[in-house]
Amino acid sequence: MNIKPLVIGDLVAKIPIIQGGMGVGVSLSGLAGAVAANGGIGIISSAQIGFNTPLFEKNPLKANLEALAEHIRIAKEKAKNGIVGVNIMTASRNYEEYVRCSVKNKVDLIISGAGLPIDLPKLVENSTTKIAPIVSSVKGAKILLKMWENRHNKTADAVIVEGPKAGGHLGFKAEELDKLEDIPYNFDNELKGIIEVVKGFADKFGKHIPVIFGGGVATNEDMKHFLDLGCDGVQIASRFVATEECDAHENFKQAFINATKEKVSIVKSPVGMPGRAILNDFIKETKQGNIKVKKCYQCLTHCDPLTTPYCITKALINSVKGDVENGLVFCGEGAYQIQKMSTVAEVIEEIVGTKAAV
Ligand SMILES: Cc1cc2nc3c(=O)[nH]c(=O)nc-3n(C[C@H](O)[C@H](O)[C@H](O)COP(=O)(O)O)c2cc1C
Repeated sequence: MNIKPLVIGDLVAKIPIIQGGMGVGVSLSGLAGAVAANGGIGIISSAQIGFNTPLFEKNPLKANLEALAEHIRIAKEKAKNGIVGVNIMTASRNYEEYVRCSVKNKVDLIISGAGLPIDLPKLVENSTTKIAPIVSSVKGAKILLKMWENRHNKTADAVIVEGPKAGGHLGFKAEELDKLEDIPYNFDNELKGIIEVVKGFADKFGKHIPVIFGGGVATNEDMKHFLDLGCDGVQIASRFVATEECDAHENFKQAFINATKEKVSIVKSPVGMPGRAILNDFIKETKQGNIKVKKCYQCLTHCDPLTTPYCITKALINSVKGDVENGLVFCGEGAYQIQKMSTVAEVIEEIVGTKAAV
C-alpha cells in the first residue's frame, strides 16, 4: 500500500491515521501522545476530562478545563513534535470554553461531532488551530459546510466521516443501523458522495480538504480500501483501546479483548443518538427503565436529569475506572475482533503494513 502523509494545512502526519477521541478518560495524554509520537495524529477527548481530580465533584467545569490544559501539555511533550488534537463534542455544555481552552493551549487540531459545530470557525479565529467537523451523511456535510461558508466565510481544514460501524455515539437512527449492519463496507456510496461535496467546497476555497473515514477500520485491508476510495486517511479508535498506552483501566481493555460479536450492542444515549457499547449488566438495567440520577455533572446541553435514561457521565466514569459491568463501555462494531494487548506502535505497524519510520 502506498502510504502518503496526511496533510491538514501546515500539519503533516507521516502516518495517515487519526486516533479517534474517546471519552470519558479513554484517550488522554497517554494514548494521544503515543499515537502522535508514532507518526499519527493523537486525539485527547475533552469529555469530563477532569473526572479523576478531587475538584471534579465540587466544580466539574473548572476541573475539566485545568485537566484539559494539563493533558494537552503532557501529550505534546510525549508527541515529540507529533500532532496532538482534541475531540470536543458539540453537545457538551460549555462547548465554547473547552474550545477556547484548547486554542489557548495551542492544540493543533479540534475535531467536533455529536451535533453541528456551527460557530467553531469563529472560536478559533486568529489562531493556528485547525478544525475538522465529524459528519455521517452527504446532507450533514452540505448543511454544515454551507453554514460555515455563509456565516464565517470559512471552510473546514479536514472532514471526518464517521460510518455506522463506529463506537460511541452514532449519527444514525437505530433503524438505519439495523439496515447497514453486517454488510462489509456498507457505507461506501454515502462516503463517495461526501468526498464529492467536500471537493466542491475545497475548489471554491482554493485548497485541498482532506477527508478521513472512521468506523470499523481495523486492518491493513480496511485502510487500503478507504485510501483507494479517495480518502486521505482513516480515523481509528477501538483498535487503540487494547494497547499499553491507552488511558483506560486494565478491565476496560480486557472487556474489549473478551468481547464476542453477540456482546457488541446498541444502547440509547442521553445525547439523543444511539450509541454502540458492550452488552453488560448496566445495559440490561437501562432496558428495564430509567436509572435515577443522583447528581448532575453538567455534561450535555440537552440532558434533563429528571427524564434522562441514565447519567452518562457516571456510567462512563464507572467503566473507565474499571467497573465494566456497572458502567457504559462504548466500543466500535469490530471490537470483538481484538484478541490481544498490543502497543500503539504494533497496532500502527499492523494497519499500515510496515514499520513506521518516524
Ligand atoms: C470507547 C469509545 C469512546 C468514544 N468517545 C467518543 C467521544 O467522546 N467523542 C466522539 O466524537 N467520538 C467518540 N468515539 C468515536 C471514535 O472517536 C471513533 O470515531 C470511532 O469509534 C471509530 O470507529 P472504530 O472504533 O471502529 O475505530 C468513541 C469511541 C469509543 C470506542
